Amino acid sequence: MTAPVRFLTGITTSGTPHLGNYVGALRPAVEASRKPGTVNFYFLADYHALIKVDEPARVQRSTLEIAACWLACGLDPEHVYFYRQSDIREIPELTWLLTCVTGKGLLNRAHAYKAQVDKNTAAGVDVDNDVTAGLFMYPVLMAADILLFKANWIPVGRDQVQHIEMARDIAASFNHLYGEHLVLPQAQVDDTVALLPGTDGRKMSKSYDNVIPLFAPREQLRKQIMAIVTDSSGPGEPKKVEGSALFQIYEAFASKEETDALRKAYAQGISWADAKQMLFERIDREIAPMREKYDALVNDPAQIERTLQRGAEKARALAAPLMAELKAAVGLRNLADVAGKAKKKEKAALPSFKQYREADGKFYFKFLDAHGRLLAQSRAFDSPQQAGQVIADLKKGAPVDDPAVAGTLVLADGVAAGEFGAALAALSAA
Ligand code: TRP
Repeated sequence: MTAPVRFLTGITTSGTPHLGNYVGALRPAVEASRKPGTVNFYFLADYHALIKVDEPARVQRSTLEIAACWLACGLDPEHVYFYRQSDIREIPELTWLLTCVTGKGLLNRAHAYKAQVDKNTAAGVDVDNDVTAGLFMYPVLMAADILLFKANWIPVGRDQVQHIEMARDIAASFNHLYGEHLVLPQAQVDDTVALLPGTDGRKMSKSYDNVIPLFAPREQLRKQIMAIVTDSSGPGEPKKVEGSALFQIYEAFASKEETDALRKAYAQGISWADAKQMLFERIDREIAPMREKYDALVNDPAQIERTLQRGAEKARALAAPLMAELKAAVGLRNLADVAGKAKKKEKAALPSFKQYREADGKFYFKFLDAHGRLLAQSRAFDSPQQAGQVIADLKKGAPVDDPAVAGTLVLADGVAAGEFGAALAALSAA
């Protein structure tokens, strides 16, 4: 029996969700959470918020608003894991264990940190200006979020892919030192979800000050839609859909038929005022029922707090046993527990597969005997899934000349096929 696939996503609680977050993250995530055969984790990354925000009231308010948004958009806390990062004390605990296996050089390459360094360099100030250790350590905290729940897939935007790769590297380092305890996660970037332009036509983003809040009151929503930048063509003049922010936003909410109808109206010279009215009504039709739920939730923080507490309890039921396992693995143990040592030895006496990535960007694995001697080396794979699949096939006992496996590995010098087979059998039997 294969375990269900785990998806995990965190949302930094440093702002108010806008239409771009809804279209790009909330809506697809709520939809995905209903897929059978998956286990889904959604959490409010409030420790991450502290990296950017030093106003306590804002962190609290944002946490409330974001929690209310997810619930109003239909996330069912009974069917998913929905919790607040700071309620899971195993997260900072794991962060430290991971910190101790993370190279400083790896963190030096993180985009968020490098961007600040580049900015400082350009401004001619000290490179470490405005760089807290929190910003520098951000990828390790994020790795702990992910690895603590053995998540397989992390749905993220392109800007976060590097962090997931770092989490993978960190997990691999830990496993290499202490045994196969952690699951290597992968980024899932969905290019089919809409990237929403903001009111000025650039990507909708708080840093451009062009956002439309998701649950603004109806009248404010109308005002902000009326403020979307358009060209100067007058009523009756045909309009171009290419490069029209208004059209792109409409498309993200409307059906194909509705979108085709607006395209036609553009060609026939619909006035910008009428087009904006259409957009307003279309968005409001989708948002209004959720807005009502949102308003009720935000006005009842105690209820949200209870929901989050229940979520934390559920999440900690998974986190606590793994954390105990990891602490034991690194040697943070009950001093009276000497049986642990014997068990560890037993475990270490098994052959193992090691997956890794080379500087060429390709994925590989090695097969080592119980003493760490190289038995076989794989060829290059384009994705970690492909490498993982071959390992899974080998573990299931696929003969080495099986078409799915043949040609994917080379025995190391001096290793006989029989020795390889015996090690594989020992591993499968364990
Ligand atoms: N850093 C992410 C962001 O800013 C939020 C986040 C924190 C996250 N921990 C995570 C996302 C774990 C995915 C998995 O968007």
